[in-house]
Amino acid sequence: MEKTLRVAVIGVGGMGSTHAAHIAANPKARLVAVCDTNPQRAREIAEKHGAKAYVDPRELLTREPLDAVTIATPHYDHPLISMDAFAKGIHVLSEKPIAVTARRAREALAAYRAARVDHPGLRYAIMFQERTQPAFAKLKALLTGGILGRLTRATWIHTKWFRSQYYYDHGDWRASWKGEGGGVLLNQCPHTLDLYQWLVGRPRSVIGRVSLGKYHDIEVEDEATAFFEHEGGLVGHFHTTTAECPGTNRLEIAGELGKLVLEDGKIRHWKNAVSMLDHSKEVQDGFKLPECAESEIPIPPESGSLKLHGKVIDAFFDGITLGAPLIAEAEEGLASISMSNAILLSSFQGRTVSLDDVDGFDDKLQGLIEGSRWKKKVAAGNLDFQASWK
Ligand SMILES: NC(=O)c1ccc[n+]([C@@H]2O[C@H](COP(=O)([O-])OP(=O)(O)OC[C@H]3O[C@@H](n4cnc5c(N)ncnc54)[C@H](O)[C@@H]3O)[C@@H](O)[C@H]2O)c1
Repeated sequence: MEKTLRVAVIGVGGMGSTHAAHIAANPKARLVAVCDTNPQRAREIAEKHGAKAYVDPRELLTREPLDAVTIATPHYDHPLISMDAFAKGIHVLSEKPIAVTARRAREALAAYRAARVDHPGLRYAIMFQERTQPAFAKLKALLTGGILGRLTRATWIHTKWFRSQYYYDHGDWRASWKGEGGGVLLNQCPHTLDLYQWLVGRPRSVIGRVSLGKYHDIEVEDEATAFFEHEGGLVGHFHTTTAECPGTNRLEIAGELGKLVLEDGKIRHWKNAVSMLDHSKEVQDGFKLPECAESEIPIPPESGSLKLHGKVIDAFFDGITLGAPLIAEAEEGLASISMSNAILLSSFQGRTVSLDDVDGFDDKLQGLIEGSRWKKKVAAGNLDFQASWK
């Protein structure tokens, strides 16, 4: 019989309290403790689930016999707490982003690899629950099967991230360089950037343009546009903002064999009868298009009763006890944070940035923190996060 895992959640605000509820409802684990630097919050969530309450993550990791933790603190602490857990041989599921900078993410990954010498079965997962959405899983299967042949273009407009000033005013850490380290790219778009690279691959270089506090009283970016170039010639475009109503969420992927478009929960497919590249070379006519058929590709219904975060948590538990594959290994979080850092760095420095050379962002970020004159207004109370993934 598989053992029941002893699990704690660190950071039980909007997101962490959802982790706690999923863990408490999962028979593979027992939620033994929660930890939050806000003692009242820690007590409240602990009482709800009959768990112990801690206010200091290090004390929790030292005192409580644990198999695993999930981390849902503000972003800067994700790598720090992960590394403390690895030192004790404790498995980690970190919220996205894996870290605020790619350099810091690599440090956490190096600590993980070092800890695996003494704890070979140690797992480090990242919460990329959007990968479990049937539409994205279907797109991934289609692209892996080569439905479009050589890819030429991927364009993602994702502006369905509306956030009000009220949202930004909640939580003393949100929307400042010091507290969060970025805006829409770091908070909302780790999912979008992860899905982009999961579906069409990691870009080689990035040209980015961001606007800081354009529509909100915040000091970080609330609008970003990027141009990606990939090995092999694929080009990508990406646009996002937290200030568009109604927003658009449209992903177009084009290749020599046609095009896939995901929008409004539907996948549409244009299938060329022959490769556009071959046709272009061979056709004895300047304008004749290859024959093309359009259809809708059915998206399978959600399987099982678990949804999104619950699925990632369940796979994490199976990863620990059975060595099963995770929804996303933490290492896969490096690509999206590198893309996010590259877009910001490119915008600040007005140049093309290689995805392998984004560490200049750390110094830039430090300068932004030290030079900040922005005063944050903090509103009372907790936000209801259930609304954010409905
Ligand atoms: N996967 C998703 O869909 C999703 C959705 C929302 C948020 N998130 C992520 O979850 C994280 C938390 O976001 P949130 O919206 O829940 O924020 P929040 O402010 O509601 O909650 C954060 C909690 O962490 C506590 N905290 C701060 N520092 C701590 C520390 N060092 N140790 C223990 N507790 C600490 C705070 O007191 C607070 O209760 C962020 O990194 C965010 O990106 C993920």
